[in-house]
Amino acid sequence: MKKNILVVGLNAVIQKTIILPFFKEDAVIRANRYRVDAAGKATNVCRVLTQLGQNTACLTPVGIPNRQEFMDLAKSDNLTIIPVKNPVRIRNCYTLISQETGSATEVIVDEPELIEPQVETETLQIFTQALKESDVLIITGSKAKGFSEKIIPEMVKHAKEKGIIVFADYRGADLKNSFYSKQIRPDYIKINQDELKLTFPEFFKDLNQNHLEKSLDSLVKEYGNTYIITNGDQDTIYSSPDESGRCIPKMVKAINHVGCGDTFLAGLVDGILKRQTLKVSIDTAGNLAAKNALSLRPGDIWQAQDDKMNV
Ligand SMILES: Nc1ncnc2c1ncn2[C@@H]1O[C@H](COP(=O)(O)OP(=O)(O)OP(=O)(O)O)[C@@H](O)[C@H]1O
Ligand SMILES: [Mg+2]
Repeated sequence: MKKNILVVGLNAVIQKTIILPFFKEDAVIRANRYRVDAAGKATNVCRVLTQLGQNTACLTPVGIPNRQEFMDLAKSDNLTIIPVKNPVRIRNCYTLISQETGSATEVIVDEPELIEPQVETETLQIFTQALKESDVLIITGSKAKGFSEKIIPEMVKHAKEKGIIVFADYRGADLKNSFYSKQIRPDYIKINQDELKLTFPEFFKDLNQNHLEKSLDSLVKEYGNTYIITNGDQDTIYSSPDESGRCIPKMVKAINHVGCGDTFLAGLVDGILKRQTLKVSIDTAGNLAAKNALSLRPGDIWQAQDDKMNV
């Protein structure tokens, strides 16, 4: 039977991907075309899992002022959103793609207001309810300003106490504090090498890669869980109680790399739920991320292109 997957992201985005003939500072540049998408890491992961045919819902705070726009965009991609209403606008991100060089520059515009404490309480209530229907939990991305340091570790604890499989793609104190014991901790941690460095700086005392692999093995021994560490075009290093090794990504010339990590995570979850080995799941996840790199829509294996012409 198909599993129900709950993706949680505490920072949604309305993302405009803008195609420019060239990119230059101190210049007036007229865009050729653009597209707008419901985005943010959790939404991107939810979109790819939905495209892969998985039963997926995305729990995310949606600010009332631009909530309708986000919900309409999500609906147009057939996404199931579990919204937590709050007064702070959903933030905007802009991806500026230069046709001249192929570069993609991402501009993140966080809202200045803080999420109120009662939104955190409501988020946890809605989360507890949604978890009753879920077999798998994915927590991904940063949290909007105002959420406390406690919310993410609490979600992990709650899910693990119910025996739910937890995937983590977030970093820093949120991640470190999610390790309670050999039973209460995320089952799979998919982060990139920089995020690993920020979360576990002690691993990087010695820059030798073997040292990194040994440190991962010691975490596996202590917590009995699995680590998948991507590094852009460099090898993905993985370590689990059953297998460890490296996978070499097959890179393509990206038209928009935004969402590659999210697509990789969705592919990894899909592979693991289909009982593929970790290595096969990582290779498949990498191939899906390559498809995303060829799409203008962030977190997309159907390779959507522009939808608005600026004439
Ligand atoms: N241009 C590309 N072509 C093919 N595969 C790619 C490309 N860019 C990324 N990937 C794949 O995506 C995986 C994840 O990329 P990366 O390590 O950049 O993730 P990330 O840092 O988590 O990204 P994000 O910023 O989206 O969270 C890589 O290991 C690789 O397999
Ligand atoms: Mg990432």
